[in-house]
Amino acid sequence: MRRKVADKRLLVTGASSGIGKELAIQLAAKGARLLVTARRGELLDSLVHEIRSNESNRDVAALAGDITDPDFRFRLIELAQNRWGRLDGLVNNAGVGAMGRFTDSTPQTLRQVMEVNFFAPVELIRLAIPLLQRGQQPIIVNMGSVLGHRAVPLKSEYCASKFALHGLGDALRAELAPLGIDLTMISPSTTDSDFFEHAIQDTTQKTWKNRGATSVKQVAAATIRAMSKGTHDVILTLGGKSLVLLDRIAPTLADHAMQRWAQ
Ligand SMILES: NC(=O)c1ccc[n+]([C@@H]2O[C@H](COP(=O)([O-])OP(=O)(O)OC[C@H]3O[C@@H](n4cnc5c(N)ncnc54)[C@H](OP(=O)(O)O)[C@@H]3O)[C@@H](O)[C@H]2O)c1
Repeated sequence: MRRKVADKRLLVTGASSGIGKELAIQLAAKGARLLVTARRGELLDSLVHEIRSNESNRDVAALAGDITDPDFRFRLIELAQNRWGRLDGLVNNAGVGAMGRFTDSTPQTLRQVMEVNFFAPVELIRLAIPLLQRGQQPIIVNMGSVLGHRAVPLKSEYCASKFALHGLGDALRAELAPLGIDLTMISPSTTDSDFFEHAIQDTTQKTWKNRGATSVKQVAAATIRAMSKGTHDVILTLGGKSLVLLDRIAPTLADHAMQRWAQ
């Protein structure tokens, strides 16, 4: 389904930095109405200020809190309900990484990655469905990862969380279609944000950000394109597409390459 983002009422999570912040800026520039969220309230305030400095009467509000807290998720949806009475889009972008060998990691790390990257977006979807049903051309956007299509070593918890989001999203897309709600999954490769600095754990000595990283501007623009066209699944880069293709046509070769890289 094709849609315009102008005038749409959108909730964007993880908007204090990186991809989410840039996405909020680009969506606002295209005329969307926004409710933005993340934990760092001062960064959300400056985002709202930045958006309003471009257009002073832009409909944009922020609510700071931890997306893993069920009460906070409820308050977020309540705010959307009180402000707009409907939602035209939910962008589940908030996410965290964890790097290192599974044998060096902890049950707490696995739980936290799954809480932020999987349980929080899924439970937010559950709460948002009634508001989305009242929306115009409603859409759920899940920020996935190429690593939700092909897992790699040293990021096992993160890969698991993005695979889970991918799987649940595919099932929900079919279930929600009769309700008129669309679902898109965006799968970037390494992106030039502070994601790796924000990781909840890194037990490796590796440098994770590479020079060929995609810019947040590119990811945000591709996300808006997918929302506009109603594309279901977007793998952003040639490298990402090649990795997924290699995994499909030669999984053993892909496994060998991963094993060598992990040493
Ligand atoms: N960067 C990459 O290489 C890459 C590649 C593929 C996919 N992605 C995905 O892209 C999304 C955005 O990441 P990014 O690259 O923009 O990194 P980022 O700058 O670290 O952004 C992560 C966002 O999530 C929010 N967040 C994290 N934990 C939260 C919590 N408990 N409650 C509420 N908000 C929380 C952060 O805000 P606060 O800290 O203020 O709460 C921040 O706004 C993530 O889902 C990530 O998995 C990133």
